[in-house]
Amino acid sequence: KKGNYDHFMQKEIHEQPHSLTTTMRGRLKDNSVVLGGLKDHLKTIRHSRRIIFIGCGTSYNAALAARPFLEELSGIPVSMELASDLLDRQGPIYREDTAVFVSQSGETADTLLALEYALENGALCVGVTNTVGSTLARKTHCGVHINAGCEIGVASTKAYTSQIVVMAMMALAIGADRISTQARRQDIINDLSSLPSKVSEVLKLDGEMRDLAESLIQTQSLLVFGRGYNYATALEGALKVKEVALMHSEGMLAGEMKHGPLALVDETLPIIVIATRDACFSKQQSVIQQLHARKGRLIVMCSKGDASTVGPMESCRVIEVPQVADCLQPVINIIPLQVSP
Ligand code: F6R
Repeated sequence: KKGNYDHFMQKEIHEQPHSLTTTMRGRLKDNSVVLGGLKDHLKTIRHSRRIIFIGCGTSYNAALAARPFLEELSGIPVSMELASDLLDRQGPIYREDTAVFVSQSGETADTLLALEYALENGALCVGVTNTVGSTLARKTHCGVHINAGCEIGVASTKAYTSQIVVMAMMALAIGADRISTQARRQDIINDLSSLPSKVSEVLKLDGEMRDLAESLIQTQSLLVFGRGYNYATALEGALKVKEVALMHSEGMLAGEMKHGPLALVDETLPIIVIATRDACFSKQQSVIQQLHARKGRLIVMCSKGDASTVGPMESCRVIEVPQVADCLQPVINIIPLQVSP
């Protein structure tokens, strides 16, 4: 039932403090993570030569958000595959690979075809899905349910944040044998516990984001620039704008801005720049300066308290979001972009 909400999507966006809680329930211990569906396979995963994330649409974007910290915590190279592209290319997959399939429904045709292909090639196949008993859950060797609750809205929202959290927990479990990252892992575990309350906090921006959306109604197009942990946020934010606001939007890697997209910048094209605090912060600051120099129409998403760092306020709108561990920040940052379309 939609309750007081106009659409299922809206209801599911506002459910996220709860869905994230159920995703983590029983899985976070004081200083470790327990994923029942994975524990017998952790050794094999740790010995794999490569981890390949495979999915479509929002599920692919969630995996892209998880890629940097899975690489960091596991030390294993992680590659990304859109299921249809892997099939088109018949890209190489080996017995020494771990292929992680991400799908809310567990029934997406391209993802299931890619799964058949990876099974034929002898990879260990891991499923990350929201749907118990789905084809993906049945055909993979092992996996983790995201337990976000049934998602009815056509545009995926709460599944996205729960997928990221599950992949964060996977990274913590896979990397648990590495002494060198112990302190880092502890920080992430602590911040995972406080994530639902931070999500409630950022959901209060709902009204402010609707005002912002209102101001963009007349525009033809919207760019979203992100990098590092939040490259995925840029792609996923733009995907939500496309499918919900039916407006052209592109997510772009901010590091690529000077290699072409800068030519598009003028006073009319709105550009969202994600510039919350992490190791890429100063690089993102210089992107903002270059955009100001071109008189770009900027909307900057920054960490709470950082509004003064984004440049002349009269030419720029600011969205301030609560800060969490850098690798979990994509869970917070996508929420204003979910509510605005
Ligand atoms: C976007 C959206 C789609 C799905 C994609 C994969 O909001 O919902 O892009 O993410 O079709 O679906 P699943 O995750 O069910 O495999």
